[in-house]
Amino acid sequence: MTDRIETLVILGAGGDLTARLLLPGLASLLASPRGTEVAVLGVGMDPMTDAAWTERVATAFAASPSTLGAKVAAESRYLQADVTNPDDLARVFAATTGRIALYFALPPAVAVLACAAMRKTPVPKGIVLALEKPFGTDLASARTLNRTLQHLVPEEQVFRVDHFLGKSTVLNLLGLRFANRIFEPLLSAPNVEKVEIVFDEQLALEGRAGYYDKAGALIDMIQSHLLLVLALTAMEPPASVDAEDLRGAMAQVLRATHPKVRSGTSSRRARYTAGTIGDRSLPAYSREAGVDAARQTETLAEVTLSIDNWRWAGVPFILRSGKALGEARQEINVTLREVPHLPIGLHGPTGPSQLRISMKPATLELDLTINGEGDPFQLDRTMLRSELMDGELNAYGEVLAGLLEGDPTLSVRGDIAEECWRIVAPVLASWRKDAVPLETYAAGSDGPRGW
Ligand code: BG6
Repeated sequence: MTDRIETLVILGAGGDLTARLLLPGLASLLASPRGTEVAVLGVGMDPMTDAAWTERVATAFAASPSTLGAKVAAESRYLQADVTNPDDLARVFAATTGRIALYFALPPAVAVLACAAMRKTPVPKGIVLALEKPFGTDLASARTLNRTLQHLVPEEQVFRVDHFLGKSTVLNLLGLRFANRIFEPLLSAPNVEKVEIVFDEQLALEGRAGYYDKAGALIDMIQSHLLLVLALTAMEPPASVDAEDLRGAMAQVLRATHPKVRSGTSSRRARYTAGTIGDRSLPAYSREAGVDAARQTETLAEVTLSIDNWRWAGVPFILRSGKALGEARQEINVTLREVPHLPIGLHGPTGPSQLRISMKPATLELDLTINGEGDPFQLDRTMLRSELMDGELNAYGEVLAGLLEGDPTLSVRGDIAEECWRIVAPVLASWRKDAVPLETYAAGSDGPRGW
């Protein structure tokens, strides 16, 4: 089914996700050449007039103004409904026209209840269900949610949203790896010492305790986003980048991915204490509003994974993400092995070569050892650097384009969502048993001492 979506129904219309990410993403799509008209129906528990809702949409659209966006905002409508109630859901469906996408901008537990309610009411033909991350709360719940969805619609009508798959820098891995002879043959165990995928943020909790305190850095970032980046970094070349081939290649490499739990060094976790970042003074995470300190939620997580296949056996993949750090470092860093033999007579710094694909800012850097100035036998280090092009759409806009065009390529396939939970499950289990200490770092620092 590839027909375009005519109505986008946003469940959780009054929520933070809708205002902060979804509507601005839609605005960027509508302002681009790929934008086409779509009716927007906001649905929420709270009463709201159509006028108040269109005002909200227009405000969120302001960052990417366009004539089409203004029309879509002005014509959008709001419906008060409890989407965990089948009768209310039927009212929602009755208020739509044409093929619809139902976007669950809801907390995971409510999304599960809404899916269960959908089984008790007829669903419109061709409906596409868009679910935000986290998809489930662990492997078992992700499996159950997948089974519930299977009863509702075929897999190609399920869109598991992960905005990292819409980031142009992440998608750029495809062009970089598979449209150049220089990189692809290099990316394998004989040449690569280690791969680090890092997403360190200066942002702290930012008032999201209700969600984040139950998730933590491992689930918020590594379980979803960074494992998908790992899949694109390490997968075998797909024959095409259509939904079947691309997601098949991603699933295959994830199936071979495991934490090195038995070695005892596979993971580290830490939580920030009070500190300053630029001119912002931050309280300790444990003292942030809404945080339950006893929950021991980590704000910095690191996991070392191995990919047990011919290409990558023995190469550590280190995934790390943290909040309230002094420097925002968001990159894929491939460290190459030293040359097998440096001709005797050449001197100077050699150091490991690194290929750094930075997600923010969008740059590509490659360290090289070259002949230095003067003495031709004296080596020196240099760096090739290039800016990467920005996509036309922001990450949410890109993902929404796929959703509205009925193309599931950038949606997380059901088995991939389960693999991502399977990979982190042993780490989560060891943390729950307190087998890995919860370390601390001052907000604004570069992490715990010794990391
Ligand atoms: C979200 C996480 O999915 O991704 C946030 O919940 C994180 O904690 C964000 O800050 C990072 O993505 P971006 O694209 O906003 O930098």
